[in-house]
Amino acid sequence: MSKDNRNFFSEKKPWSKVKDELLECYLNPYFQKIFQTHRPTIYVDCFAGKGKFDDGSKGSPLIALEIIDKRTNTFTNVKAYFIESNYADDLRKNLERYPCAEVLQGKYEDQIEEILSGKSNCNVFLYIDPYGIKSLNQKFLASLSNRFASIEILLNFNSWGFLRFACKVLKVMINSENEEFFTDLIERDESENIKLESTLNDIAGGDYWIDIVEKYRDGKISFYQAETVFTKEYCDHLRMVYRYVLNMPIRIEEHKPLKYRMIHATNHEDGAVIMAHNMFKRWELVKSSRPSPSLFHENANEDFISKGDLNEKIKQHMMQFREFQTINRIMADFFNEFGVICSTSDIMKVGKDLEKNQKILVHRNPERTEKGKPSTFWSESKEKILKLKWNN
Ligand SMILES: C[S@@+](CC[C@H](N)C(=O)[O-])C[C@H]1O[C@@H](n2cnc3c(N)ncnc32)[C@H](O)[C@@H]1O
Repeated sequence: MSKDNRNFFSEKKPWSKVKDELLECYLNPYFQKIFQTHRPTIYVDCFAGKGKFDDGSKGSPLIALEIIDKRTNTFTNVKAYFIESNYADDLRKNLERYPCAEVLQGKYEDQIEEILSGKSNCNVFLYIDPYGIKSLNQKFLASLSNRFASIEILLNFNSWGFLRFACKVLKVMINSENEEFFTDLIERDESENIKLESTLNDIAGGDYWIDIVEKYRDGKISFYQAETVFTKEYCDHLRMVYRYVLNMPIRIEEHKPLKYRMIHATNHEDGAVIMAHNMFKRWELVKSSRPSPSLFHENANEDFISKGDLNEKIKQHMMQFREFQTINRIMADFFNEFGVICSTSDIMKVGKDLEKNQKILVHRNPERTEKGKPSTFWSESKEKILKLKWNN
């Protein structure tokens, strides 16, 4: 194991906390919703770790199992697999009280296909949290998109690590001032040594990264921009097979280099909306107490967008819908196109104003409240459906 990761489990670091909160806050509504489908559900933690940190904090396996436990009843058919190459024994001990959990000792790349084979009628969730990038084959992830009743992937992608190898393979020098991006990268696998363009193509899902690194070499973009463009391309490639792909940079303090990206892929709009809400919330919590300038909205990418511009973007987006469409579909499409640049309530607020000014038509089901008054809700749930279209 690499020297950098030997103490990984001695205590949970702040950036791991943000990552775990993202997982926990997503899995809660995910399992609640997915168990209502009454299909078998397969949860796979592909790089599971020990289950628990030495300081007592829960690792991703316990986080998931506690939620599954809470949401399970006698009719729920759920199986959780935990793949771990180094700490399988610790993990088994930490998970022994959960009957639906199975620990598999070995490598994700050797085990995953067998776990997933014959599961076409299942809902599948993959949590992929490696130290490095070598095992991440985008073609494989893309091939899963249509194989199951539903599939969701939450991936920790070390974009800086990728670019570092990309520069090395193409023999491009990284400017010494860009080293700050790496010195802070705790979760990396020093034993990884990627030497071939073809390996990087497999990880990236294409060779688009070459052009990005060459632009950096030629001074046309900064290293920071190279990472942003690379992540966008990476997500766009996943978007060719997954309908919704969102990403969130994980940093622990504002204006510090990001640690890595959490990327979420799903074909379902409800999943995308829940994740966007979750990512926005996490970012709000990460932000320091320094209030952002009141007229501007700062998003997780640390881009500033004025409230006026944001509202105009939302309005323009709604204008495209000339047939009735659910609010979740409209919001999911918005986040997919522009990123998590605002909260779901920002979109709803614009919707409310547009409804008041009769710019959009809204259908609600139920149309009336229990007291017989016209419904005015602005949200979607199992019991409430809200559809809207632009009023031509
Ligand atoms: C970043 S840690 C995972 C942390 C875990 N998600 C948690 O919250 O506790 C990565 C884990 O993957 C394991 N690992 C490394 N290479 C692996 C591989 N090829 N397949 C499966 N596990 C691997 C490491 O031993 C380590 O425990």
